[in-house]
Amino acid sequence: MSSWSTGSRRWSDAAQSCFVGRRAERGQLQEAWAAARRGTRQVRFVGGEPGAGKSRLLVQLAAELTAQGATVLTGTCPSTLASPYEPFVAPVVTLRTAIADGSLAPADGQTDRSDLARTVALLDTVAGERPAGRASRRDLLDAVVTAVRSAAAIGPLALLLDDAHWAGETAWELLSFLVEQTADLQLLLVVAQRTTGPDRVGHVLDHVARLYRLDGVRRIDLPPLATDDVEEYLVRESQVPPTLARAVAPDVHDRTGGNAYFVRELVQTLAPAARPDSSTRTVARRRRCRTRSRRALARWTRARVRRSSSPR
Ligand SMILES: Nc1ncnc2c1ncn2[C@@H]1O[C@H](COP(=O)(O)OP(=O)(O)O)[C@@H](O)[C@H]1O
Ligand SMILES: [Mg+2]
Repeated sequence: MSSWSTGSRRWSDAAQSCFVGRRAERGQLQEAWAAARRGTRQVRFVGGEPGAGKSRLLVQLAAELTAQGATVLTGTCPSTLASPYEPFVAPVVTLRTAIADGSLAPADGQTDRSDLARTVALLDTVAGERPAGRASRRDLLDAVVTAVRSAAAIGPLALLLDDAHWAGETAWELLSFLVEQTADLQLLLVVAQRTTGPDRVGHVLDHVARLYRLDGVRRIDLPPLATDDVEEYLVRESQVPPTLARAVAPDVHDRTGGNAYFVRELVQTLAPAARPDSSTRTVARRRRCRTRSRRALARWTRARVRRSSSPR
């Protein structure tokens, strides 16, 4: 971990609920990280439908890389009222703060106070904290590249950006510029985005298509969770006995198409984690699963509720 603070330690506590499957994707991301550490900037676009598990994979990666001593910066893009540079704002604020307080020295040898102040002011503008004044778009992009270069010069850096399908043209322009200008850095950029339906936006597709031509830029499409993953989820998240989990997992998988969000919702309804008061109510709401699975899980839940509420 470098001397400047990124707050990335919090990721070690972030992934607390159980995480299943995704061995191939985690392997691909670790390979990308290994290549990035060798000084060849890597980019991975993680794509999938809503609820596929993109954000969760990013959290998991952040925790894994942090545990390996990486510097991890993360940013996300809100669906509404986003500043033009989201999802870069949080990472830029962290870098700006470190440059301003002197804990991160600019990599391009800016020792002059006025140069430093200018870089900080440009980063303020990207963060939405200061009007652009006379600064050009190119000045702003250069300042972000300088800041990222500075951080990556100290140690390998991971920049994880979520919900990039909501990022506007300005932010995608910054992303493209950053990727083009950092080929020699110890940098891993992971960009998660929806690749389905109304969220397939023209400018996003254009930028991604152009970036694919560069070295070290690849995509990872998140497939649905497998039936085995659902089985593991039932056991680990709701403590369903393994034999029962094996029996009902195909049905849960079938009903949800392996979409992680739907799996979570359905499992919470069918087999809530030990909460006796809510489980009696939810038994009545079990409609979406086939009768046999529903009954088996209902019997198991009732028995568990009885056990947990009987005096010890
Ligand atoms: N591999 C996984 N193991 C366990 N839970 C997961 C996994 N992937 C996603 N989830 C859970 O499923 C829900 C939806 O996942 P999320 O990452 O928010 O989807 P997306 O970002 O693709 O819309 C979240 O509650 C998340 O914690
Ligand atoms: Mg998400």
